[in-house]
Amino acid sequence: MPTDPSGDSTSVDHGFSHHFVHPDLGPVVVDEDKIRARILDLGAEITRDYADRPPLLVGVLKGAFVFMADLARAIRLPVEIDFMAVSSYGASTRSSGVVRIVKDLDMDLAGRHVVLVEDIVDSGLTLTYLRRNLAARQPASLEVCALFVRQGNQKTQEDLRYVGFEIPPAFVLGYGLDMAERYRNLPYVCEFRGDA
Ligand code: IMP
Ligand code: MG
Repeated sequence: MPTDPSGDSTSVDHGFSHHFVHPDLGPVVVDEDKIRARILDLGAEITRDYADRPPLLVGVLKGAFVFMADLARAIRLPVEIDFMAVSSYGASTRSSGVVRIVKDLDMDLAGRHVVLVEDIVDSGLTLTYLRRNLAARQPASLEVCALFVRQGNQKTQEDLRYVGFEIPPAFVLGYGLDMAERYRNLPYVCEFRGDA
Protein backbone atom coordinates (compact mmCIF):
# COMPACT_ATOMS: atom_id res chain seq x y z
CA MET A 1 0.00 0.00 0.00
CA PRO A 2 1.16 3.54 -0.65
CA THR A 3 2.24 5.40 2.41
CA ASP A 4 1.57 9.04 3.04
CA PRO A 5 4.70 10.80 4.36
CA SER A 6 2.46 13.09 6.42
CA GLY A 7 1.14 10.01 8.18
CA ASP A 8 -2.39 11.05 7.32
CA SER A 9 -4.30 7.82 6.82
CA THR A 10 -7.31 9.72 5.47
CA SER A 11 -5.38 11.03 2.42
CA VAL A 12 -6.85 10.10 -0.93
CA ASP A 13 -5.70 6.86 -2.52
CA HIS A 14 -6.01 7.28 -6.28
CA GLY A 15 -6.21 3.59 -6.91
CA PHE A 16 -2.63 3.06 -8.10
CA SER A 17 -0.08 1.43 -5.84
CA HIS A 18 2.52 4.19 -5.79
CA HIS A 19 5.80 4.77 -3.98
CA PHE A 20 4.09 7.61 -2.17
CA VAL A 21 0.70 9.21 -2.52
CA HIS A 22 0.27 12.33 -4.63
CA PRO A 23 -2.56 13.41 -6.93
CA ASP A 24 -0.03 14.14 -9.75
CA LEU A 25 0.70 10.42 -10.07
CA GLY A 26 -1.32 8.54 -12.67
CA PRO A 27 -1.25 5.00 -14.07
CA VAL A 28 2.06 3.18 -14.19
CA VAL A 29 3.45 3.11 -17.75
CA VAL A 30 6.52 0.91 -17.22
CA ASP A 31 7.01 -0.90 -13.92
CA GLU A 32 10.25 -1.59 -12.05
CA ASP A 33 10.63 -5.19 -13.21
CA LYS A 34 10.28 -4.28 -16.88
CA ILE A 35 12.74 -1.41 -16.56
CA ARG A 36 15.27 -3.66 -14.81
CA ALA A 37 14.95 -6.45 -17.40
CA ARG A 38 15.22 -4.08 -20.36
CA ILE A 39 18.30 -2.33 -18.96
CA LEU A 40 19.99 -5.71 -18.49
CA ASP A 41 19.32 -6.38 -22.20
CA LEU A 42 20.68 -2.99 -23.23
CA GLY A 43 23.75 -3.55 -21.06
CA ALA A 44 24.37 -6.95 -22.65
CA GLU A 45 24.01 -5.45 -26.13
CA ILE A 46 26.45 -2.64 -25.39
CA THR A 47 28.85 -5.13 -23.80
CA ARG A 48 28.84 -7.16 -27.03
CA ASP A 49 29.08 -4.16 -29.36
CA TYR A 50 31.91 -2.46 -27.49
CA ALA A 51 33.88 -5.50 -26.30
CA ASP A 52 37.09 -4.34 -27.96
CA ARG A 53 36.69 -0.61 -27.26
CA PRO A 54 35.15 0.18 -23.85
CA PRO A 55 32.98 3.25 -24.30
CA LEU A 56 32.75 6.54 -22.52
CA LEU A 57 29.19 6.92 -21.28
CA VAL A 58 27.97 10.50 -21.38
CA GLY A 59 24.86 11.06 -19.27
CA VAL A 60 22.55 13.99 -19.77
CA LEU A 61 21.61 15.46 -16.41
CA LYS A 62 19.48 15.58 -14.63
CA GLY A 63 17.02 13.10 -16.12
CA ALA A 64 19.52 10.36 -17.01
CA PHE A 65 21.09 9.99 -13.58
CA VAL A 66 18.98 7.00 -12.51
CA PHE A 67 19.21 5.25 -15.88
CA MET A 68 22.97 5.86 -16.05
CA ALA A 69 23.49 4.26 -12.64
CA ASP A 70 21.67 1.08 -13.67
CA LEU A 71 22.91 0.94 -17.26
CA ALA A 72 26.56 1.38 -16.27
CA ARG A 73 26.28 -1.58 -13.89
CA ALA A 74 24.67 -3.69 -16.62
CA ILE A 75 27.69 -3.19 -18.90
CA ARG A 76 30.49 -5.67 -18.24
CA LEU A 77 33.32 -3.54 -19.55
CA PRO A 78 35.62 -0.95 -17.95
CA VAL A 79 33.49 1.99 -19.07
CA GLU A 80 34.22 5.58 -18.18
CA ILE A 81 31.46 7.95 -17.15
CA ASP A 82 30.93 11.66 -17.54
CA PHE A 83 27.92 13.93 -17.31
CA MET A 84 26.73 17.11 -18.84
CA ALA A 85 23.80 19.12 -17.62
CA VAL A 86 21.39 20.72 -20.03
CA SER A 87 18.25 22.62 -19.47
CA SER A 88 15.48 22.66 -22.04
CA TYR A 89 12.06 22.58 -20.48
CA GLY A 90 12.13 24.74 -17.39
CA ALA A 91 9.01 23.93 -15.43
CA SER A 92 6.79 23.29 -18.45
CA THR A 93 6.13 20.01 -20.23
CA ARG A 94 6.88 21.13 -23.77
CA SER A 95 10.27 21.45 -25.47
CA SER A 96 11.31 24.94 -26.40
CA GLY A 97 13.97 23.63 -28.76
CA VAL A 98 16.42 25.88 -27.00
CA VAL A 99 19.04 23.90 -25.12
CA ARG A 100 21.38 25.47 -22.63
CA ILE A 101 24.51 23.68 -21.44
CA VAL A 102 24.47 24.20 -17.70
CA LYS A 103 27.48 21.98 -16.99
CA ASP A 104 29.87 20.80 -19.67
CA LEU A 105 31.83 17.52 -19.74
CA ASP A 106 35.04 17.15 -17.77
CA MET A 107 36.55 14.77 -20.33
CA ASP A 108 37.94 15.22 -23.80
CA LEU A 109 35.96 13.25 -26.39
CA ALA A 110 38.63 13.19 -29.09
CA GLY A 111 39.21 9.63 -30.31
CA ARG A 112 36.74 8.18 -27.79
CA HIS A 113 33.87 5.79 -28.41
CA VAL A 114 31.02 7.76 -26.91
CA VAL A 115 27.56 6.55 -25.93
CA LEU A 116 25.21 9.40 -25.15
CA VAL A 117 22.81 8.28 -22.42
CA GLU A 118 19.43 10.03 -22.49
CA ASP A 119 16.34 9.61 -20.33
CA ILE A 120 13.69 10.33 -22.95
CA VAL A 121 13.53 11.54 -26.52
CA ASP A 122 10.39 13.55 -27.12
CA SER A 123 10.62 16.12 -29.93
CA GLY A 124 14.25 15.09 -30.43
CA LEU A 125 15.37 18.71 -30.36
CA THR A 126 17.57 18.24 -27.28
CA LEU A 127 19.20 15.22 -28.84
CA THR A 128 19.80 16.92 -32.19
CA TYR A 129 21.53 19.77 -30.42
CA LEU A 130 23.62 17.49 -28.21
CA ARG A 131 24.64 15.17 -30.99
CA ARG A 132 25.87 18.05 -33.08
CA ASN A 133 27.68 19.55 -30.13
CA LEU A 134 29.42 16.29 -29.18
CA ALA A 135 30.24 15.30 -32.77
CA ALA A 136 32.16 18.56 -33.14
CA ARG A 137 34.55 17.31 -30.44
CA GLN A 138 35.82 14.56 -32.76
CA PRO A 139 34.91 11.32 -30.99
CA ALA A 140 35.93 8.10 -32.78
CA SER A 141 32.25 7.10 -32.69
CA LEU A 142 29.04 8.47 -31.24
CA GLU A 143 25.87 6.49 -30.54
CA VAL A 144 22.76 7.21 -28.51
CA CYS A 145 21.15 5.09 -25.80
CA ALA A 146 17.72 6.42 -24.79
CA LEU A 147 15.60 4.67 -22.20
CA PHE A 148 12.33 6.09 -23.55
CA VAL A 149 11.19 7.40 -26.89
CA ARG A 150 7.78 9.02 -27.14
CA GLN A 151 5.99 7.58 -30.14
CA GLY A 152 5.32 9.82 -33.09
CA ASN A 153 6.51 13.08 -31.58
CA GLN A 154 9.94 13.50 -33.14
CA LYS A 155 10.50 16.62 -35.16
CA THR A 156 13.91 15.42 -36.26
CA GLN A 157 15.16 12.14 -37.68
CA GLU A 158 17.76 10.95 -35.22
CA ASP A 159 19.50 7.60 -35.37
CA LEU A 160 18.88 5.97 -32.00
CA ARG A 161 21.17 2.96 -31.68
CA TYR A 162 19.78 1.72 -28.35
CA VAL A 163 16.20 2.30 -27.18
CA GLY A 164 14.64 0.94 -24.00
CA PHE A 165 10.93 1.54 -24.57
CA GLU A 166 8.65 3.36 -26.95
CA ILE A 167 5.93 4.99 -24.87
CA PRO A 168 2.56 6.58 -25.69
CA PRO A 169 2.01 10.37 -25.83
CA ALA A 170 1.27 11.10 -22.13
CA PHE A 171 3.82 13.10 -20.14
CA VAL A 172 5.51 10.75 -17.68
CA LEU A 173 7.28 10.92 -14.33
CA GLY A 174 9.74 8.83 -12.42
CA TYR A 175 12.99 6.92 -12.88
CA GLY A 176 14.81 10.24 -13.31
CA LEU A 177 12.01 12.05 -15.14
CA ASP A 178 10.57 15.06 -13.42
CA MET A 179 7.79 17.57 -13.33
CA ALA A 180 9.30 20.81 -11.97
CA GLU A 181 12.11 18.77 -10.33
CA ARG A 182 9.80 16.37 -8.51
CA TYR A 183 9.16 12.63 -8.85
CA ARG A 184 12.60 11.75 -10.21
CA ASN A 185 12.91 9.28 -7.32
CA LEU A 186 9.96 7.09 -8.32
CA PRO A 187 11.47 3.66 -9.11
CA TYR A 188 9.10 3.21 -12.10
CA VAL A 189 7.49 5.45 -14.70
CA CYS A 190 3.90 6.67 -14.47
CA GLU A 191 1.66 9.21 -16.18
CA PHE A 192 1.49 12.77 -14.95
CA ARG A 193 -2.10 13.68 -14.03
CA GLY A 194 -1.85 17.34 -13.16
CA ASP A 195 -2.06 20.42 -15.36
CA ALA A 196 1.05 20.80 -17.52
P1 IMP B 1 12.95 16.87 -26.43
O1 IMP B 1 13.98 17.92 -26.68
O2 IMP B 1 11.56 17.34 -26.79
O3 IMP B 1 13.27 15.54 -27.09
O4 IMP B 1 12.88 16.66 -24.87
C1 IMP B 1 13.85 15.94 -24.18
C2 IMP B 1 13.90 16.29 -22.72
O5 IMP B 1 12.66 16.77 -22.23
C3 IMP B 1 14.21 15.05 -21.92
O6 IMP B 1 15.60 14.87 -21.76
C4 IMP B 1 13.49 15.31 -20.62
O7 IMP B 1 14.33 16.03 -19.71
C5 IMP B 1 12.33 16.17 -21.00
N1 IMP B 1 11.09 15.37 -21.18
C6 IMP B 1 10.51 15.00 -22.33
N2 IMP B 1 9.41 14.27 -22.13
C7 IMP B 1 9.30 14.15 -20.79
C8 IMP B 1 8.33 13.49 -19.93
O8 IMP B 1 7.37 12.84 -20.34
N3 IMP B 1 8.57 13.61 -18.60
C9 IMP B 1 9.61 14.31 -18.07
N4 IMP B 1 10.53 14.92 -18.82
C10 IMP B 1 10.36 14.86 -20.18
MG1 MG C 1 13.12 17.73 -17.18
